[in-house]
Amino acid sequence: MIATTLNEFIIERQEEFPYAKGELSRLLSHISLAAKIVHREVSKAGLVDILGEAGATNVHGENQKKLDVFADEKFINALRGSAECCGIASEENEEIVIFDSEVARNGDYVVTMDPLDGSSNIDVNVSIGTIFAIYRRVSPVGHKATEEDFLQPGRSQVAAGYVIYGSSTMLVYSTGKGVHGFTLDPSIGEFCLSHPNIKTPHSGYIYSINEGNYKKFAKGVKKYLKYCQVSDEPTNRPYSSRYIGSLVADFHRNLLQGGIFIYPKTEHDPCGKLRLLYECNPVAFLVEQAGGKATNGRGERILDIVPKKLHQREPLYVGSRNMVDKAEEFIKEFGD
Ligand code: AHG
Ligand code: MN
Ligand code: MN
Repeated sequence: MIATTLNEFIIERQEEFPYAKGELSRLLSHISLAAKIVHREVSKAGLVDILGEAGATNVHGENQKKLDVFADEKFINALRGSAECCGIASEENEEIVIFDSEVARNGDYVVTMDPLDGSSNIDVNVSIGTIFAIYRRVSPVGHKATEEDFLQPGRSQVAAGYVIYGSSTMLVYSTGKGVHGFTLDPSIGEFCLSHPNIKTPHSGYIYSINEGNYKKFAKGVKKYLKYCQVSDEPTNRPYSSRYIGSLVADFHRNLLQGGIFIYPKTEHDPCGKLRLLYECNPVAFLVEQAGGKATNGRGERILDIVPKKLHQREPLYVGSRNMVDKAEEFIKEFGD
């Protein structure tokens, strides 16, 4: 049997997309092209001069790795070439990147992205990823994109997805009609449909959090972690602790197997670490589409938060619905 490729699938499903046919197909196919280029570099990372620091820091004061910079450039170039996108907000750039050609000014979409997620895992051959979200612009077509185009709540996403560069490379996306996963067949250079209509279990057995920060967690988080570790047959506890340190990889595993991922606020980081626009929102969109849940631990749905800043951070509780609800109960009772 011949597998359905990503491009075939998008074209088959474009009727479901509420806006002009072909627009989203072009955007997604350009994103998938950049993903293949990044995959190529990642897979030979130990052989070529792509490991290590690039020698600069990004807007968050983090050292940029060469692959962060490489991926950022490839995705920006691909989206510039799509003719549908008028601007990008990327983790690696302090300001929005505006495409100012006549064609781009007429583009209806903006994209937010984390071009390379899991930077600390690049040099050690552990899964990393790319995360993206697509919005309709709110500024008038024919003009340059503005910051308002990017400061929309996550519920306005028209599509979101991620690429995981793992033991195989996969692209997982949703346009609001379910979540679909495609595995790259490197021998033909195509993403092939491997995980149609992904649904996440309502309860799982995995909790994912950086427990090295335990002392800095609030009482509610600490109590929830203890709850995860206590034996209780009917609820299949203790749960297993799994933490890779690449959001994409931790999220992907929990999406398929069921689980909860938490990056809470701490004493030192009152908003946590993860960025709302290009980390929290896309995974929140995907998890809801798969039947799961994403909140900031204080009962607020991630997708309803109206961003005030491009690089705003937000605590993230995401995964199986019953597990997120349980964690929230603890936060409510003991505080976050
Ligand atoms: P990035 O590499 O894009 O900066 O993201 C890293 C993020 C995320 O992928 C991961 O979940 C988290 O940082 C891990 O942080 P800790 O090392 O603090 O656990
Ligand atoms: Mn990231
Ligand atoms: Mn990143």
